[in-house]
Amino acid sequence: MNPTILPLDWLLGTWQSDEPGEGCFPTIKPFRYFETLQFSHVGQPVVNFSFNAFHADSKKPLHRECGFIRMQPGTNKVAFIVAQNSGLVEIEEGELTGQQLNLRSHAIARISFAKEPHVKEISRVFQLRADGKLEQRVSMATDTQPLMEHLRITYIRSS
Ligand code: HEM
Repeated sequence: MNPTILPLDWLLGTWQSDEPGEGCFPTIKPFRYFETLQFSHVGQPVVNFSFNAFHADSKKPLHRECGFIRMQPGTNKVAFIVAQNSGLVEIEEGELTGQQLNLRSHAIARISFAKEPHVKEISRVFQLRADGKLEQRVSMATDTQPLMEHLRITYIRSS
C-alpha cells in the first residue's frame, strides 16, 4: 500500500449496511435504504471507491457514487473526489482525525438538466466506531433549505 494513504487503511474493503439507513430532508418523505461501499487501492497514493444504494423494500437500485480519495502527503488533509448518478460532481475536502473523516464540499458542478432543487453545500462524516461499525452521515443545503441531515447509515465489513 502506498504510504501516503496508510492513514486511510481502516476504510479498505467492502462494507454492507447492517440495518437500513435513514434518509430525510424537510421537503421529502423519510425513506430507508441499503448501501454497499467498496474502498480499494492499486498501489497509487489514492483510494478508489464506489457506493451503491438500494431501496430497503423493493431492492431497486437508487443512488450511486464513485470516485477517489487523496491525502496531502505529510498532513491530515483529505480530498474526496466524487461523481454521482444524479449528474452531480463534487470535491469535498477536510481532515482525518484518527479513524474519522470530516469533509465539506469545496466545489460542486452538475449537468445542465439536473433536477431541482440544486445542492449548494454538502458535509459528510465517515467514522469507524468503537463497535467496529462504519458510520456515514451526510448533510446538504439546497436552493430552498439550509444545511441539514439527509442521510445516516452504519455498515459492517463484509470483506
Ligand atoms: C432526494 C441529494 C444521496 C435517496 C434528494 C434531493 C437532493 C438529494 C437534492 C431532493 C431534495 C428536495 O426535493 O428538496 C443527494 C446528495 C446525495 C444523496 C447530494 C449524496 C451526497 C442519497 C442516497 C440515497 C438518496 C445515498 C439513498 C437511497 C434520496 C431519495 C430522495 C432524495 C429517496 C427523495 C426522492 C427523490 O427526490 O428522488 N437527494 N442525495 N440520496 N434522495 Fe438524495
